[in-house]
Amino acid sequence: MKKRIFARLTCLLCLFLSSNLAALSATTPWYTNTVSMQSPDGRMELRFMLVDGCPQYALYRDGKPVVLPSKMGFTLEWRDDLAHAFVLKDLERSTFDEVWQPVWGEEANIRNHYNEMLVTLEQPAGVVTSADGRSKTLPTVMQIRFRLYDDGLGFRYEFPMRHNGVDNALVCFWFKEELTQFVMTDDHTAWWIPGDYDTQEFNYTKSRLSEVRELHDSSHTDGGWPWKSFSDTGLQTALQMKTDDGLYINIHEAATLDFPTMHLDLTWNEDAFYLRAHLCPDAAGYKGRMQAPCHTPWRTVMVCDKATDVLRSRLILNLNEPCALEDVSWIHPVKYMGVWWEMISGKSTWNYTNDFPSVKLGETDFEHATPNGTHGANNANVRRYIDFAAKHGFDALLIEGWNIGWEDWYGKQKDFVFDFLSPYPDFDLPALNKYAHEKGIRLIMHHESSASTVNYERWMEKAYTLMNLYGYDAVKSGYVGTIIPFAEGHYSQPINNHYHYAIVEAAKHHIMVNAHEAVRPTGLCRTWPNMIGNESAMGTEFRERIHPGHTAILPFTRLQGGPMDYTPGIFEPDMGKIVPWGKKMSHTICNQLGLYVTFYSPLQMAADFPEHYEPYLDAFQFIKDVAVDWDTSIYLYAEPGDYIVTARKPKVSSLNKAADGVGKLPDGKKGVISGAARFVLAIPDTLQPIYAIPGDTTSILYPDYGAFEPLDTWFVGGITDENAREVSVKLDFLEKGKSYDAVIYADAPNACGLPNDAHLPYNPYAYTITNQKVTSKSTLKLKMAPCGGFAVSIRERK
Ligand code: NOJ
Ligand code: CA
Repeated sequence: MKKRIFARLTCLLCLFLSSNLAALSATTPWYTNTVSMQSPDGRMELRFMLVDGCPQYALYRDGKPVVLPSKMGFTLEWRDDLAHAFVLKDLERSTFDEVWQPVWGEEANIRNHYNEMLVTLEQPAGVVTSADGRSKTLPTVMQIRFRLYDDGLGFRYEFPMRHNGVDNALVCFWFKEELTQFVMTDDHTAWWIPGDYDTQEFNYTKSRLSEVRELHDSSHTDGGWPWKSFSDTGLQTALQMKTDDGLYINIHEAATLDFPTMHLDLTWNEDAFYLRAHLCPDAAGYKGRMQAPCHTPWRTVMVCDKATDVLRSRLILNLNEPCALEDVSWIHPVKYMGVWWEMISGKSTWNYTNDFPSVKLGETDFEHATPNGTHGANNANVRRYIDFAAKHGFDALLIEGWNIGWEDWYGKQKDFVFDFLSPYPDFDLPALNKYAHEKGIRLIMHHESSASTVNYERWMEKAYTLMNLYGYDAVKSGYVGTIIPFAEGHYSQPINNHYHYAIVEAAKHHIMVNAHEAVRPTGLCRTWPNMIGNESAMGTEFRERIHPGHTAILPFTRLQGGPMDYTPGIFEPDMGKIVPWGKKMSHTICNQLGLYVTFYSPLQMAADFPEHYEPYLDAFQFIKDVAVDWDTSIYLYAEPGDYIVTARKPKVSSLNKAADGVGKLPDGKKGVISGAARFVLAIPDTLQPIYAIPGDTTSILYPDYGAFEPLDTWFVGGITDENAREVSVKLDFLEKGKSYDAVIYADAPNACGLPNDAHLPYNPYAYTITNQKVTSKSTLKLKMAPCGGFAVSIRERK
């Protein structure tokens, strides 16, 4: 279904309108001088006006203001600002309605339905000055494209090369600042992290907007490094707010390409709260080097009546371009484990030796170095993880610390830090890949760039080629530390371009990318679905420093732009049991299970050690069974920072895509059935492939999982903050007339995930597992402990 209707006002009408705007502005209320547009359901209204030549917009829902008249435009280098002396030259309207299918996602079909208005603004020739002299004879043209959805607004600035046959005075131009405002009506409640040029790895602060300044310093504590704050009222997007009337307003951006990231700076007076765009500068201080024809990313204002509608919104994805890749057959969801938590927890090290305080690539002799005995990525340990992952139906295994250079990788600001090609002596790259493939597992490559983007680009082609040679099809990249080239932040235009370059080059090699410490996503995964994950927020690696309720905020904020590699699944949250300096994390085992449903990602990790899962294999069964790609998602209950309860139905077509891919490798095991496929197809663990010639996996006889009928299956997950809660989950989304088996993983009455809770001793390990027959008429009553949660798998009876 695709529909586009255009209507174009004549230039004459526009000239009339623009002269009217100028003539009426002094005496008449502003709203009589506007052009406006409504959302498809008629509840949202966007008004655009020129006030003394300055473009402004305002947004309403049900007739009430959401965004008060807010300025638009830019200041430029060597040229008059794009903020005044505009006349409205042209106006085009259209409407669009289509349903598209993401390669992976929270639902199989996404509706993209909006009304659009494109305003063409002109600074007439001679009105403004420009260093290149073109504006003496040519008009300056800036267009603003507005898209209004039932759940929000997107707008972006566009700069055509010519308009109506006349060249634009703007050709190459440099932004000093974007002037876009989002003027809020009141002192809303906000869930925010501080504006920063280098990291998003912070806990969220919940406060009134008017409290941001006094809380700004403390909002940095417990966060990532390095941090570079630009203002004591700077905020990052996605910024989630709630009005006292219960309206949820979320400000973010979509499709940030070849442009700096937008933060917000807040000021206020007795009339309003002013959020103004603050672009992350490059090393020279510029905030966008533009060349017409070009456009900015979309600026977005999501407006929802209910918190669950924020989670349901596809505004950011819809504002991105359709998939740029013709062949997506090689892209698949991934459930993985990793030789990773060992290093994060302190049990093992990334580095192989303690011999060298300083490593020089190509000079340091690792072959004759003394092994330190703590190196996690050694052959025997990797094989142990492969065995466990294969036994339990996982798709892949990440291994960090496989390559030389970790001895002095961090905080030294080294340019030539890694080559991404040379394994340590105890990591047999060809043999381990072969071993993994023969068991139906892919290895995930790790490229920690140590934020030396120049060095990563130097080696990238060779590194991706090496991956192709050995059958890796996914890479986790990382950008820890101070960016090289020096003085660039993590979110400037050139560095955002680097992240994108890595995705595009990876796609050429059929490689999926999960980048940590890269810019927070803005829905680009719609266009480049090989971007299967990002960190770009505080994830599990922060351990005990993560505040209760953090994972109940992220789906409202960070996840609006795309999936997060949060790395859940920690079954031993008392880190003191691993290393003497370890502390207690704030969650129960059932909270971790709930995350696999409440937290969407096509790339989900079971992050803990095999030996931490062994004592709890009955609870681990949920992680084995749960899918990571969905046909349908239903957001049942939610409140930012407090709780989320979600139900999801798996997408059958991708359940075994990863295993099928391994089967196509020359050394890959055929006939492997993933844990999630086994669950949906009701194939017991005991049923393993049978081969005509023992040892020859190409001679697969049985089973052909395609012969099994998928059963109607749902997974329900819930998480809570430090408060215990009870929720009733009506199963009315199940098919009427069918009977289902539900397995309920719930916190036991004595469970408590909060260290130092006032009433209960810390006990993250206590859970119950109950089986129940259910139908669409059933209601489950589920209790969550402090920092707890629950998970339910529901499968149709055969
Ligand atoms: C930070 C990443 O977030 C983490 O997952 C990784 O293990 C380390 N960097 C080392 O690359
Ligand atoms: Ca990180």
